[in-house]
Amino acid sequence: MQALRIDEEKVIRRFESHTPGSAKLFRKAKDVTPGGVMAAIKFFDPYPIFMKRAQGSRIWDVDGNEYVDYLMSYGALVLGHGAKKTRDSIASVMETLGTTVFGTPTEGEISYGTSLREIYHPGGSMRFTNSGLEATTLAVRLARAHTGKGKIAKFEGHYHGAVDRLLFSYSPEVAKTGRSESPVPIADSADVDKGLLSDSMVLPFNDWEATERILTRQGEGLACVIMEPFEEGVIPGEKEFMNNLRKLTRDLRVPLIFDEVKTGFRVRFGGASEYYSIVPDMTCLGKIIGGGLPIGAVVGEADILAHLDPSTKKGTNVFHSGTFNGNPLSINIGMATIEELRKPGRFDLLRRRTEHLKSEFSAVLAARGIPHQMAGEGGMFNFYLTSKPVRNYRDVKSSDLKLRRCLDLQLITNGVYLKPENRYCLSLAHSDEDVNLTREKFAKSVDSLLALAAS
Ligand SMILES: Cc1ncc(COP(=O)(O)O)c(C=O)c1O
Repeated sequence: MQALRIDEEKVIRRFESHTPGSAKLFRKAKDVTPGGVMAAIKFFDPYPIFMKRAQGSRIWDVDGNEYVDYLMSYGALVLGHGAKKTRDSIASVMETLGTTVFGTPTEGEISYGTSLREIYHPGGSMRFTNSGLEATTLAVRLARAHTGKGKIAKFEGHYHGAVDRLLFSYSPEVAKTGRSESPVPIADSADVDKGLLSDSMVLPFNDWEATERILTRQGEGLACVIMEPFEEGVIPGEKEFMNNLRKLTRDLRVPLIFDEVKTGFRVRFGGASEYYSIVPDMTCLGKIIGGGLPIGAVVGEADILAHLDPSTKKGTNVFHSGTFNGNPLSINIGMATIEELRKPGRFDLLRRRTEHLKSEFSAVLAARGIPHQMAGEGGMFNFYLTSKPVRNYRDVKSSDLKLRRCLDLQLITNGVYLKPENRYCLSLAHSDEDVNLTREKFAKSVDSLLALAAS
């Protein structure tokens, strides 16, 4: 099938007439902060939607439009918006502890830390942070201290947070990336020190021959390999690739870091680690483990995390700190969320509903002859509009992103919320009715684009 020619301007005009209140607030917001957003990821063209209220699987914008929400705050909410468990535990923290933060250790940190360690790295150790990016930053610092080496290797297209040490080759212009089997590091942000890039290596995801060659030939001085075991949270590392990588990094004595900020408690209860039956040297967690509050964690080998011990001699340890690390609100709400998700049948229900929606989307696209690839496991999925298999960043970039953007804007106009081009994250609040309604809205949105293409 030939690429569909959609008049994007018409799609944007429909979107604008549906969301005048957001357009107005966007103009105001731009006066306060560059681009009108507090995080780059929240921006999209022509403007982001300003939300006002949420409940369960639904959110309402400032114009009063209701949406079935599949952003779920970039996957952070696995119980849905304002779940009873979340409300109760927020109230209970205030009632029983009397504060949101002590600035001292608490018993809750030990309980929650113990259970995360049992799930992700039995026999290991852990440390809480306030965000995913603090977790990846800490894991890399630990790897450097532990190995006494400086170079970082990451995969092209993998995101590890807005921190200069890891902000390269996440979303590079493909024309500048070099040959697929030997990608060059490209800074993603104007502040990234060019010197850092010369101490950085980029690996091609799911290309074992090239990855092995780069790691064995240029691995001198390498402190760690960090990766999203599912690129964009949904494109899996192929099993043989993952097993080979675990083996080679072990042979080379290079710590392997799984960044499971997206995939933790989402692709499986035990994350990508459980899916692959692979235990990396360190795992970074975030999003879901805070139950909707800010948090992050590094879980991993005790001898690597031992560098954090402040009682060891100054200068031989890794200094890590944070006023809000382990704050009781994030700890207790996070712990209550994981307890809820752990109840018998809960994760399976999330997985079944997600699989159902994923197959409905595929059926809608297939019935209309639109080439596509579905990707994702557990409680999260995405689709790429291309006839070719999608195994890495360059495959994503060669899919029909313009059509996808139009479809996502049309879906918002029709009451399904997702940040355009992002992945679909479900929660335990999403019901079978939500799935059926979304299927209808998806079919309607695709049909209205097809009608535009034909007119
Ligand atoms: C894989 C991955 N790592 C790290 C981060 C950074 O997490 P945070 O936004 O909590 O700093 C993200 C955020 O989306 C992520 O997806």
